[in-house]
Amino acid sequence: MSPQKKLQDWYQIHKRDLPFRKKKQAYPIWVSEVMLQQTRVNAMLPLYESFMNRFPTPESLASAEEEEVLAYWKGLGYYSRARNLRKAAIFLVQNYNGSFPKDLNLVLKLPGIGNYTARAILSIAYDLPFAVLDGNVKRVLSRYFGYSENILGSKADFDLQQKADGFLNKDYPGDHNQAMMELGATLCLPESPKCLLCPLSKSCYARIHQMTGEIPLRVKEKKQIQLSAEILVFDSTDKILLVKEPKMRFLKDMFHLPYGFMGEIPEETYEPTPFFLALKEWCPSPLSVGKFKHTITHHKMEFFVHRQSLKERTQIETLAKNFGVESKWVPLSSLDSEFPSSLASKVKKFLLY
Ligand code: ADE
Repeated sequence: MSPQKKLQDWYQIHKRDLPFRKKKQAYPIWVSEVMLQQTRVNAMLPLYESFMNRFPTPESLASAEEEEVLAYWKGLGYYSRARNLRKAAIFLVQNYNGSFPKDLNLVLKLPGIGNYTARAILSIAYDLPFAVLDGNVKRVLSRYFGYSENILGSKADFDLQQKADGFLNKDYPGDHNQAMMELGATLCLPESPKCLLCPLSKSCYARIHQMTGEIPLRVKEKKQIQLSAEILVFDSTDKILLVKEPKMRFLKDMFHLPYGFMGEIPEETYEPTPFFLALKEWCPSPLSVGKFKHTITHHKMEFFVHRQSLKERTQIETLAKNFGVESKWVPLSSLDSEFPSSLASKVKKFLLY
């Protein structure tokens, strides 16, 4: 028997008896799916019942005042979801006679409806062949197919959507999607999954290889940090100053153009060095020659390039020495090799004359 058929049989026996599963109608399914994006089934049921009693049709929702709709949303939070639901109901009444379109691209244009909700409604209400991907389904699929990459990474949604599409039971897309979600919610749990009861266990990669503890891999991507920096180009008779400072956050142990972060600095480790501050003070009005963007891992930086021509070099060399900083002068033509970072070539663009 195919795994899809096993899943379908399992679902018929174990599916929960939920009010929005009684009829294949787009409107109640839509409301339930929006509510389920922020609350578990048991918590949303009483709110769902009273919402549907008051707003049983798209017409009743469309003609209600926003304030009243929000009052019925109380306890769910994220009021923009309720506002969008009402706006979309108004749009449906005005443009489609209150019925829900069957075209994925049209549905995706409705306020508040993204990929998950659109696919859920079209598959559950109309049995159209769209596979859904939510947190539970991602866990089930990654274990079943042995997808060992980070499921929180940006590539995972694309990869897993393809697997979900390929795995979809085209005879029963709505049941299949709900079965996948139900499996994730009741058996394929994040910790201690109940593989013995799972209809997919015989062909599940993670169960066969005893890897349910390792799959799915969940690595939170580091928060992006925005930084602004100044980079100083001192030139003297066609040569440019490079320095090597101890204790740098970036470009450690290499000769580099002097730079320092400015503006809002998120942590002490990004503070400009005492040497850089002294250098700036020593040269208070350099020429601004341009700016560019540069990324190092999760740091998004904007560099402002300043330039200062010098007649003589000894003062700056002495300043460096006083701060325990090494310095040297290199020709512009060999800047990239002496300072082997893509920063060098970005700066160089502003220096060619
Ligand atoms: N989670 C969100 N929508 C669901 C549905 N229709 N069935 C099971 N779990 C869900």
